[in-house]
Amino acid sequence: MPAKILDGAALARTLRQGIAATARQLADAGVRPGLAVILIGSDPASQVYVRNKVRACAEAHIESWLCELAEDTSEEVVLAHIGQFNANPAVDGILVQLPLPPHLDAMRILEAVDASKDVDGLKVHSAGAVVTGTAGFRPCTPLGIMSMLKATGEALAGRHAIVVGRSVSVGKPIGLLLLEHDATVTFCHSKTPDLAAETRRADILIAAVGRANLITADMVKPGAIVIDVGINRKGDGKLCGDVEFEAVRQVAGWISPVPGGVGPMTITMLLQNTVHSAQMRLAP
Ligand code: GUN
Repeated sequence: MPAKILDGAALARTLRQGIAATARQLADAGVRPGLAVILIGSDPASQVYVRNKVRACAEAHIESWLCELAEDTSEEVVLAHIGQFNANPAVDGILVQLPLPPHLDAMRILEAVDASKDVDGLKVHSAGAVVTGTAGFRPCTPLGIMSMLKATGEALAGRHAIVVGRSVSVGKPIGLLLLEHDATVTFCHSKTPDLAAETRRADILIAAVGRANLITADMVKPGAIVIDVGINRKGDGKLCGDVEFEAVRQVAGWISPVPGGVGPMTITMLLQNTVHSAQMRLAP
């Protein structure tokens, strides 16, 4: 029997209704949630992502401010904009769209965001909260994946999770969140000698590398939950993930598609984090 589809788009729609209702209640109480988005340069993919985020805010009754800066904007100017958003009490969250132009130091810029407004969860402070399991913003993509795993209804405790990829925004934090839920976690990456031998042991397989068709059917344990975080553009311009979808679908128990899987959930978690931040503003 082919795998069940982990429909991130449908789950996102349902969750966004609840987020919008909470945002409305907050606005009625005098605290309308607000997100500032900073886009530097004219990367076409980033422009699309940012437009989607701003539209999602409007649909969820979250106010948004889009700060578009030229490619050659100096670090000083970027930091000044972040400082203004930090000081503005109507702003609950600040997102600096990545990647940044090469002359800008991403770490220095992300660190300038006030920890109470780090709804993207990419500051060292937020990473520390993930490691220690304490209160703080979790990065949006891992949070979205956890929500999708919850939607399967399957237990995570004692299951073997393999994370392929070790990025700061996805690979490392999703491994830690799975560990927090008592999964046994293995991280794999470009230096792992026999990737297929590792992935075949996975009850939960997270593919977060950014290489089209890296995960083939022979690399998947029958019945496994397969989450595809990859966003790759094929020669014909269409999007595909890191997983060979049609073939793996015949083996896995659950599989998330690209597009329509993790992507919509990432934006949903950004909205959720922004609303949580506004709740903290109302009742610290
Ligand atoms: N670029 C692509 N995805 C993301 C994301 O989730 N956050 C930020 N800040 N930049 C991104």
